[in-house]
Amino acid sequence: MKLTIRAPINIALIKYWGKRDEALLLPTKDSIGISLLELFTETSVAIINRKDDEIFVHDEPEVQARIIQGIQAYLHRFRSITGVDARFSIHTRNNFPTASGIASSASGFAALATGLAKASELNFQESQISALARLGSGSAARSVCGGFVRFYKGTQPDGSDSFGKTIFHSDHWPELRMIVVLTSLSPKSISSRDSAKLLVNNPLYARWCEESHLRVDAAIQAIGERNLIQLGLLMEKDWVDLQKILATCDPPIQYATEVTYNVIHEIHKLRENCPCYFTTDAGPHVKVLSLASNVPVIRERLKGVEGVVQIRECRLGPGAMEL
Ligand code: PMV
Repeated sequence: MKLTIRAPINIALIKYWGKRDEALLLPTKDSIGISLLELFTETSVAIINRKDDEIFVHDEPEVQARIIQGIQAYLHRFRSITGVDARFSIHTRNNFPTASGIASSASGFAALATGLAKASELNFQESQISALARLGSGSAARSVCGGFVRFYKGTQPDGSDSFGKTIFHSDHWPELRMIVVLTSLSPKSISSRDSAKLLVNNPLYARWCEESHLRVDAAIQAIGERNLIQLGLLMEKDWVDLQKILATCDPPIQYATEVTYNVIHEIHKLRENCPCYFTTDAGPHVKVLSLASNVPVIRERLKGVEGVVQIRECRLGPGAMEL
């Protein structure tokens, strides 16, 4: 029996970046992200009667080998944790450019963990699937859940209380939009996992963690009140503080390109008349938070920035689900 899972990308408003436990992928702090309806991974999983797993990645040749390796390692880990002694056939595809820094590992491992748990009839609750997805990629813990998601750092050494949980469903704020502005289609220079290892050694990191962890509660309040200005400014403050740390790592980490900064510059100018706020992650793309009514103006303006490759308007949507 084959089942297919669709899992959304989840963009952090208040970030997680860096781990307190590298083996269990436990974050140093809580984060808040939103699951986006229009950008997702679809993964089919079936149990097969063979000696080895089969993995098909429907993607660009330059990223295939790395993704297959990641999935294979995850399958071994899944079997050793759950005791499920099966071989799997996996087919996976993204509806956006992989590996360029739009959280493809988040949606990818959320879809895979959900598919494996269901195919193996584990009857896991969402929090357990989220903790399982976290073992593939930290941010995947959020992509299992829908709407506005809090990813708890947890305190247990075994990671059992570190998972994502929906704090508001997507219908809480139906007008909210995230506009994903793609500024490149090439794979990113350094993975978020590798940059996180440099970040945690930066002397400025501990302070960011403390402040950013506190920002989570303020962000929840802004979301509860549907206060875009408040939420947008918190998101940007989190980003600005993080950029200082990235820039002062040894060696410095630079994901933003000239196009990234040109888009950010336009967002600042647009904001005089239209509330919109930006963030970026481990890649050159810009994610713009605003309301549906502002999207045509933002799209028109950003279309004119040289180097912008695609503009994708996204609503909030459900977490990982079977199709
Ligand atoms: O999922 P990871 O462990 O590769 O970490 C990615 C974290 C960021 O995307 C950079 C930020 C976040 O909170 O999603």
